[in-house]
Parts: sequence; C-alpha cells; structure tokens
Amino acid sequence: MQTEQMREQWEAAAPGWARWEPVIGAWLEPATLAMLDMAGLAAGAKVLDLACGAGNQTLRAAQRVGADGLVLACDIAESMLQHVRESAQAAGLANVSTLRAAAESMEIAARSMDAAICRLGLMLFAAPAQALEAVRNAVRPGGKFAVVVFSTPAANPFMSQSLQILLRHAGKTLPPPGKPGIFALGAPGLLKSLLESNGFVDVELRAVDLTLRMPSAERTLLMMQESFGLYRAALADCSEEIRAAAWAEVRSLLDNFGSPEEFVAPGQVLVASATVSG
Ligand SMILES: C[S@@+](CC[C@H](N)C(=O)[O-])C[C@H]1O[C@@H](n2cnc3c(N)ncnc32)[C@H](O)[C@@H]1O
Repeated sequence: MQTEQMREQWEAAAPGWARWEPVIGAWLEPATLAMLDMAGLAAGAKVLDLACGAGNQTLRAAQRVGADGLVLACDIAESMLQHVRESAQAAGLANVSTLRAAAESMEIAARSMDAAICRLGLMLFAAPAQALEAVRNAVRPGGKFAVVVFSTPAANPFMSQSLQILLRHAGKTLPPPGKPGIFALGAPGLLKSLLESNGFVDVELRAVDLTLRMPSAERTLLMMQESFGLYRAALADCSEEIRAAAWAEVRSLLDNFGSPEEFVAPGQVLVASATVSG
C-alpha cells in the first residue's frame, strides 16, 4: 500500500482510534510498560514516538521523562496528532510536541533524541528500512529504540481470523510475512534480523501475552469497525452488501471467544529493544 493511501486510511480511522483509546490502551498496557522500560527512558530524556496514533503511549512516555524531558510524537495522520495535542493539554503535559510526517521521510535533527519508541507501527510501514534509517539518524549513538509489533496469526486468533474473513469477502489475501501488514514482523526472527540488518545492535526480544476483555461481542465488533484501520481498509472498495456480509461473519466468529457475559480473547505481541550503534 502506498504511503498516501495509508495516510487516508488512518485519517479515516483516527476518530475511532481516539474514541476507543482507553480500551485499546488497557488492552496493550503490559506491552506499553515493557516498551517504555526497554527504551530505558530516564527523567529529562528526549524521545521520538514513531506512528504515535492517538497518543496513549506518548503521554505515558511524557510522564516518565518529566518536565525536563520531551516527547516528539510523529504520525502520518494529522487527525491523530490533533488528538495527541488535546490529550497532552488536558493532562497538563507541556513536554509533548507533534510532527506530521511519514516515518520513512521524517526530518529530525541528527542525534537530537535520546531514545525512540514505536507501538504497533513498524509492521505497517511501506519501507521499514528507510524508517529505521531515519530513527538511527535521529537518536544519539548508544540510545535505544523500543518497538511493539503483533506476533503470529496463530497467537492472535480473533485478530487474524476476523481479518481473514474480511479479506476473503473482499477477494483479497493476507500479505505474506515480511510484506507490510499487521503480522508482517511477527514470524520468528524477522524483527531481530530487520533491526540488526539496519545498523542496530544488542537486540533484546520479549513475547508479551495480552488479553482483550470487553463487555460483549457487539462492543468488540464496534471497536473493530470504528478503529482498526487495516480492517476498515480491507473492505474500502467493496459494496455495502459485501461489507455487511463480511462484518456479519466476523460477528459470528466473535461468539467463539469468552462467554455471552464477557468477550475474552488471547493475543500476543513482540516487544524489542535495540541500541543505535556509534
Ligand atoms: C495501529 S496504529 C498505532 C497507533 C499508536 N502507536 C498506538 O499504539 O496506539 C498505527 C499508526 O501508524 C500510523 N502510520 C501508518 N503508516 C505510517 C507511516 N508510514 N509513517 C508514520 N505513521 C504511520 C497511522 O497513522 C496510525 O496512527
């Protein structure tokens, strides 16, 4: 998918991503904590948050680095950044600034950052090597880059099975491992070798289990329809009839998770950190 298409897709998903941010933030909490720890964020640090989305992890990072630090939140979609600014202001955080740019072409002063983070963005980039080069340029030697990506389709059954349903109705298939997509970097070894082949050293990798708990399958469906950018995009060029049939099948699938009283689904992400070499 081209960068401009990706931007349009996420501009469209931004209001939904922002609306569901508390739920998404709670779901991803163990991964967010691991990412912030592994990035080694200390008080006063300057941090680049790549593909920041609505800013849930941006604000967490800003709290950690404190008033003497700074978080530069970067995203391709302006509507996401607007939400980040509003949330930072509401939280009384004056140490957050925003930059609208594609990760592959962002211009940040060389070696001006102490660390970088990226939660659920790297696997979506059209040119991850270019994005990693931009990170290496922006972060000082010895600084860390910590990243979260989904692991395998098998470890994320409600995510992978529902995406497969949508793609089948749209006459498409899941991109193979290594191509941009939500599971692009989840296969064993891929993330580590991507980081190492792009000049990062001391790669540390952790698999972090997640559980999504929702009051009902209906609420889960609504969250997916409103905020999951790639899922929305899968059906973007389909008729209303196809969309309705696809989402109806996803709705039935969701009954397989948890109980009628509570939707509960397992999931897993990989959290990696790596050091920018000198
Ligand atoms: C799944 S969301 C994750 C948002 C946020 N990091 C979080 O975890 O809540 C993916 C984000 O990546 C952004 N994005 C996609 N492609 C991008 C690119 N090439 N450069 C910068 N941001 C990009 C989207 O706009 C979207 O906000």
